[in-house]
Amino acid sequence: LTKDRYPHIKRGDYATLSQKHLDYFVGLLGRNRVLTDPSDCEMYNVDFIKAVRGYSQCVLKPQTTEEVSNILSFCNQHRLAVCPQGGNTGLVGGSVPVFDEVVLSTSLLNKIISIDDISGVMVCEAGCVLERLDETLGERGLMMPLDLGAKGSCNIGGNVSTNAGGLRLLRYGNLHGSVLGVEAVKANGDVIDCLSTLKKDNTGYHLMHLFIGSEGTLGIVTKVAIHCPSRPTSLNLALLGLHSFEDILRTYSRAKKELSEILSSCEMMDASSLDVVTSHLKLKSPLGEFPFYMVIETSGSNEKHDEEKLNAFLESVMGDGIVADGTVTNEPSKIRLIWDLRERITEGLLHDGYLFKYDISLPIKDFYSLIPKMRERLGSDASRIAGYGHIGDGNIHLNISVPEFRPDVLKKVEPYVYELTSKLKGSVSAEHGVGFRKPPYIHYSKSDNAIGLMKELKNMMDPNGILNPYKVLPSQ
Ligand code: FAD
Ligand code: MLT
Ligand code: ZN
Repeated sequence: LTKDRYPHIKRGDYATLSQKHLDYFVGLLGRNRVLTDPSDCEMYNVDFIKAVRGYSQCVLKPQTTEEVSNILSFCNQHRLAVCPQGGNTGLVGGSVPVFDEVVLSTSLLNKIISIDDISGVMVCEAGCVLERLDETLGERGLMMPLDLGAKGSCNIGGNVSTNAGGLRLLRYGNLHGSVLGVEAVKANGDVIDCLSTLKKDNTGYHLMHLFIGSEGTLGIVTKVAIHCPSRPTSLNLALLGLHSFEDILRTYSRAKKELSEILSSCEMMDASSLDVVTSHLKLKSPLGEFPFYMVIETSGSNEKHDEEKLNAFLESVMGDGIVADGTVTNEPSKIRLIWDLRERITEGLLHDGYLFKYDISLPIKDFYSLIPKMRERLGSDASRIAGYGHIGDGNIHLNISVPEFRPDVLKKVEPYVYELTSKLKGSVSAEHGVGFRKPPYIHYSKSDNAIGLMKELKNMMDPNGILNPYKVLPSQ
């Protein structure tokens, strides 16, 4: 682990952690919530896909907003850089330090504060794990409006800070819609209480949106109020096999019309993506082999109605030859198995070796166009080029694996993939954010003036630049 791991990036003019700083942190949090042992700090320094790492020597675990406020106020005064971290499942290197930033882990800010059964509004602390929240809400007939493969580890604060999308954005929209309020702490320690639980509140600027999707660069989210929909009582899942991408488009279009209000998720994966989970993770697919697959979920409140509707839809698309084969289930264990085939691709891909990972929004007709182009461009240089994602949201995940990192492959992929995306009027980051890995490419999706305004906001809210430095915004 060398300190010049990122030769193109210069460490900012921040203080280096000293005993004086540690004494303050221990005085504030106690010895148990200040990690300094290198083996304890290791997991906070490495990201999920093991592509980025820092060498922080201190992880802080506050339990209250006041402690977060005291930590930031102290770090701001002493010019110590801070890296906020939730579940550390981020895929763009935003959640781990680049150099020696102090890690502020929100994992102990993990209490549910209230759930209103009538309005469906839940207020909770930022470190609550998404899946735990959903389970608790499930006991009251409610659900989280977002779901993603990382649900067992990611935190709601991390979800809000990345504006995470996931598997049901198609039905429930993104977090700018579902989140009703946020409490956040600014770099100087000021607590910004925008923790409204109201659906309608047009009093002044909508400040909470600054914290949704700003990836820990403008403040640390400490509490969230979120609108939770009623949990559907009737759930069906279909796995479909298809012969072409055009058939995926036709099926999606038909699903929107024919399943209408009960359509709650529409996902796709190509054969190479399914192969990841069947080969590496030994999961069993209930279908034969096809070039493309779709996962279509319906959810509603009337089992008979939903089943009839889904069966009629499947009969019609199979009868028209658009879908080649399919299987449907409403059994929880079979539903889990099908979702695993889709959700665990991310995990399975790590078995290939090194991963070049792209998260692209494109106009729907061009959704899959990057994959054949990359296959042609890279030929045998890549061991796998897989395309999967949220067809219903126009968001494809392009993954290129190689046994180990190769700079020549990187040169063939970047900036080509970003240029192509920009030419097609897409976004170079659909849902994962910009983090540490993508600031040099943000201009492919945002104008100079827009980036300039982002920098002005950053300078105003964090003039010493202590919050998650080297992330999101390109350097001067
Ligand atoms: P972290 O990874 O810890 O942090 C992410 C970013 O948010 C960092 O910049 C960090 O500094 C900042 N941050 C974290 N907590 C706070 C806080 N309280 N205040 C301020 N800043 C904070 N993403 C999707 O959008 N859709 C998907 O479908 C999806 N599926 C995934 C599946 C798998 C298997 C994996 C590993 C990842 C997936 N992701 C997905 C990416 C990731 O899970 C999300 O970005 C998630 O929202 C990150 O939450 P986290 O708690 O792990 O945050
Ligand atoms: C997904 O949709 O599976 C996630 O965004 C993670 C990934 O891109 O691998
Ligand atoms: Zn995704």
